[in-house]
This record gives sequence, C-alpha cells and structure tokens, in this order.
Amino acid sequence: METTVPKRRDKKSLRVKVISLGNAEVGKSCIIKRYCEKRFVPKYLATIGIDYGVTKVQVRDREIKVNIFDMAGHPFFYEVRNEFYKDSQGVLLVYDVGVRESFEALDSWLGEMKQEMGSQANMDSIVFIVCANKVDLTKRRVVDEGEGRLWAESRGFHYFETSAQSGEGINEMFQAFFSSITDMCENGGKRPVSEVSVGFTKEQADTIRRIRNSKDSWDMLGVKPGLWIVSQMTILIKSFINLFP
Ligand code: GTP
Ligand code: MG
Repeated sequence: METTVPKRRDKKSLRVKVISLGNAEVGKSCIIKRYCEKRFVPKYLATIGIDYGVTKVQVRDREIKVNIFDMAGHPFFYEVRNEFYKDSQGVLLVYDVGVRESFEALDSWLGEMKQEMGSQANMDSIVFIVCANKVDLTKRRVVDEGEGRLWAESRGFHYFETSAQSGEGINEMFQAFFSSITDMCENGGKRPVSEVSVGFTKEQADTIRRIRNSKDSWDMLGVKPGLWIVSQMTILIKSFINLFP
C-alpha cells in the first residue's frame, strides 16, 4: 500500500527592514560588515548619507530577507536619515563604550526617530537592540556593562556587548535581533511583552543612572545645597511654631 507523506512546507518568507543608528564613528558600518562579510576594516570611512545592503537569514522555519539601511551618524546627514525611518521593523542602536557622549546621545537618537514615526505606538512596534561596541578596547572603556544594560532593558530593548574588531557578540546579537523581529511579525506586528525587562521603569532606571554618576551627595539627591538649607530652615521655623504656638 502506498502512503503519501505530506511535504514539510516552510512558512512564507518574510521581508524586513532594519536601520542602524548612533553617533558617528561608533562602529555601525563595521558591525554590519563583520556580520555580512566576516571582515573588519580598521580605517574609518564615514558613511555618506545611507548605505544599503540585503542579506538572507533563516529563523526557525522561515527565510527572512533583511534590507539593511546603515545610517550616517554625522549631524550633517539629518535630512537624509529622516527619509528612512518609516516602515522599519528593527533598529540597531550603537554606542562606543569608550565615548560617554555616544552613550548619552542614545536618547536623542530615539527622539529623532520618534519625531519621524509620529507616535510612541509606532515606536512600540519596532525591535530595538542596543550594541555596546568596541569592548575589545578595555583600557579606554568608560561606560560599564551595568549602566548600558540598565538603560536598554528598562526600555524593553535588548542589550549586547559587541566588538566589530574581534567579532565578539556580533552573531549572537544578530540572531537575537532577527529572532525577535520574526516573533514580532508572527505576533501581528506587536513587540511581544518583553522578556528582557529588569523590572525597573524608565524613570527608575534614569534615577539609578543619575545616582551612579553623581559627583556628590547633593547631586545624588538631585537638589542644590542652597535649596536644602531653605527647606531645612522651613522645617526649623515650623518646629519653633509648634513648640511656641
Ligand atoms: P559613521 O558612518 O560616520 O556614522 O560611523 P560608523 O558608526 O559607521 O563607524 P564605522 O563603522 O565606520 O567605524 C568607525 C571607526 O571605529 C573605524 O575606524 C573602525 O575601524 C573602528 N571600529 C568600529 N568598530 C570597532 C570595534 O569594535 N573595535 C575597535 N577597536 N574599533 C572599531
Ligand atoms: Mg558608517
């Protein structure tokens, strides 16, 4: 007797758009090159406007066609970048662990993107992955893992330590990135409830970051010395009034 074995059918292939964001020279193009071409270019060649590339990846039983738009980080290219934010399913948000300014600029990169996307709801249907890049340069590191991870995970973003130079973290990061984008597409375009949260709200994480970076106890409390004296004086006067009504 003949039996017909049903052919295993792969699910329909997906086409996705991802973009890279972050200050100039943090290593966006090198991260992409390391993943797609398995090589590292030590010489800095600034991206002019946008670089575009396509790659195919397999996530579980789906083939994913990824369109990568690698953005220039220089402020000069603001007008060019703005044309490319829409319709992205994933964002690589990159900073250099040796340049604090590039870490502190992450909020303004989100701000620039949100302005183009129109609303927070549109931002919520995008997978963000934060790359703390150039971890091979250990001696010049100024942003530690805890600080970077807290910033990322309190926003529901993934966090990876990467080096385009050595290749550390690059494949793991892209695998997690494409897998999350696939989950989102299979979840009707909504970012699944985050599995990466550390349990702090964005506000709590910002406060923790302020405390960790504070110069002194005044700074830690977020008050100016003068203001504290005024409030202490008020308490003293009130106590006197209570003592001698
Ligand atoms: P723009 O295109 O101007 O926005 O810069 P970018 O973010 O694309 O930076 P790019 O990838 O061109 O890298 C900038 C410089 O940093 C280059 O000289 C790279 O060789 C170097 N670089 C990038 N990633 C790493 C890394 O992980 N480790 C080290 N040591 N150097 C890196
Ligand atoms: Mg570049």
